[in-house]
Amino acid sequence: MQTLVQNASEILKENDLGTYTVPTHGLYPFQWNWDSCLTALGQAHFNEVRAWREIETLLAHQWEDGMVPHIIFHKEDDGYFPGPEVWATGRDVPTSGITQPAVAGFAIKRLFDRAKDKELAADMARALLPKVFAWHEWFFANRDPQGTGLVAILHPWESGRDNSVDWDDAFERVPTTGVLPFTRRDTQHANPDHRPTQAQYERYIWLVQLFRSLNWDNSKLHDASPFQVVDPGFNGILLRSCMDLADLADALGEIEIAEKSRAQATRGIAAMESLWSDTHGQYLCQDRRQNALIDSPSVGGLIAAFAPIPAHRAKALADRVTAMANKVSYLVPSHDPDAADYDAKRYWRGPAWLIVNYLISDGLKRAGQTDVARRIANSSVELIEKSGFAEYYDPMTGEPCGGTRFTWTAAMVIEFIAQSDAG
Ligand code: GLC
Repeated sequence: MQTLVQNASEILKENDLGTYTVPTHGLYPFQWNWDSCLTALGQAHFNEVRAWREIETLLAHQWEDGMVPHIIFHKEDDGYFPGPEVWATGRDVPTSGITQPAVAGFAIKRLFDRAKDKELAADMARALLPKVFAWHEWFFANRDPQGTGLVAILHPWESGRDNSVDWDDAFERVPTTGVLPFTRRDTQHANPDHRPTQAQYERYIWLVQLFRSLNWDNSKLHDASPFQVVDPGFNGILLRSCMDLADLADALGEIEIAEKSRAQATRGIAAMESLWSDTHGQYLCQDRRQNALIDSPSVGGLIAAFAPIPAHRAKALADRVTAMANKVSYLVPSHDPDAADYDAKRYWRGPAWLIVNYLISDGLKRAGQTDVARRIANSSVELIEKSGFAEYYDPMTGEPCGGTRFTWTAAMVIEFIAQSDAG
């Protein structure tokens, strides 16, 4: 175990550029939003100052309207597509124009609770709290204009699960006419058979071009987008962060933020019921444009376990993970292996991801489903012992796929091992 932690900490150092950490050199040479927040949890075991800095750097690039971008292009690197010139968001330090799962609220609460340096933690939490709250307010104002309690993603990249089967049907409505010619760089770093397809990339870029033509005005993007999906995983992460932010705000005496955040969480959790499927025994995505659930049993519905959902729902999700364990060698596949579109090696259409395991296992543990939570944690550590610190893994064979020496995989290993040491 000690060697694993040591190897993991070396990867964190290797990918550390001082004030932020790249997910992996080559394939992802900038700062990514939810990668950084989860990475900070691993960094905190060695250096709390550095961990707070990771999230501070991310939030320093928050937009004036409250949005926290999914990529910060701190320096030039032509090894990645689409780069700053494609996004053209007009920022001094360029950023993308879309967001990513809002895990920052959870991360700062966890750093605060576990801090050895209490004074630093109080200072940092106090500085970051209003920023994270502004991001949450941005979500409800701009991504839930009808006030349903749940927010929509407008681009698959926002979900963090880029090419999930969940988006296939909604993507049929996204055209490709007018997409400017481009050269992908991801397929030069990783096996093209394990990456999203060219047809998907053209639609990703079509959406970027649409939003750019609207000058990235977030008051217009939601209604203009042909792609509006309510993802239970994405909402589950946001709602958990709202609840954690409420508790953190209480601890800091910020009563107004506490009350508003708790109200956001409570309303959203009640609205999550509309995403529940008895047939699949899990939550599903909703296609907001069609006002219909998407019949796709992906891990998005299981990540919802991270949120403070009702106990009977958490129990049902734990049962679902147990059922999955009989179908794969390593938990948790990103798509149901029995489903027609399951693909064991293609990115988010089947492979297991350690960050996802962490979120599901953390939520289940919190809900008292400790056996299944531990099973996920053990399976995760076994997988890394066998296959090293990859981006993601074939859940049947454990084969490492995608990028190598991957930051958040390393951070999650440190977290899983620390938790098991703590009993
Ligand atoms: C891919 C993943 C996304 C992640 C990014 C950087 O786009 O799908 O979740 O944030 O890579 O690791």
